[in-house]
Amino acid sequence: MPHGTDLRQACLNDLEAIGVLEHTIFAGQQPYGSVALRQLFAHHGSEWVVAVDGGVVGYVLVLAKEGKATLFTFAVAESYRERGLGRRLLLFALDKCVAANVEVVTLTVRPANEHARKLFKKVGFEKVDSDEEYFGSNGSRDIMERTLDPADVFYHSADGSRDDEPIRDGVAPAGATDQPEPMTGFRRNQSLARAGR
Ligand SMILES: CC(C)(COP(=O)(O)OP(=O)(O)OC[C@H]1O[C@@H](n2cnc3c(N)ncnc32)[C@H](O)[C@@H]1OP(=O)(O)O)[C@@H](O)C(=O)NCCC(=O)NCCS
Repeated sequence: MPHGTDLRQACLNDLEAIGVLEHTIFAGQQPYGSVALRQLFAHHGSEWVVAVDGGVVGYVLVLAKEGKATLFTFAVAESYRERGLGRRLLLFALDKCVAANVEVVTLTVRPANEHARKLFKKVGFEKVDSDEEYFGSNGSRDIMERTLDPADVFYHSADGSRDDEPIRDGVAPAGATDQPEPMTGFRRNQSLARAGR
């Protein structure tokens, strides 16, 4: 893990960098455009998390409504991969979902995306369905789900903790200095958009 990589709630100023990463990483896979990100941020930004090392180097964007959430895009910059950052981001995002009273998180992943599928399984997602024509001629998707409990605490610390089981005592982890500001100014339950990729 590069030193100084912090996780925090996304803010408006991050959207441009998220859009650039999105277009780089998902080139040819219908990346989300800046206008869509801007519009979705207005309603769902309180559940979006970014990894920052000078600039944005990773993100998890979630859409939540009435106890259900969709993870609609998630990525780590190539030079930051395979060091646990994706896992940390995901756990951090799950904490945001718990705080937003989400009971189940759903995501779409391509069956060929082995790294992502492996990571999702490790943090407790299970395949619940598939859709052969979801991406049209671009192929099928697996749908994975993870249920949440209001007592779940997933994100342990900034040291890259590896435990995948949530902490059940609800105590904030020692050293978790990069917790986001409390959510203010956002409504928690908003419209649910289509799943990602
Ligand atoms: C998927 C992605 C976010 C993972 O980010 P990351 O920071 O590399 O993930 P981590 O380092 O936290 O890896 C966590 C787990 O993922 C799996 N994984 C990640 N990279 C892997 C690799 N190259 N080979 C095998 N497994 C890998 C492993 O299970 C790993 O756990 P382990 O270290 O105990 O083996 C990143 O590869 C990425 O941005 N991919 C392109 C975008 C994408 O596919 N997004 C998901 C769309 S659904």
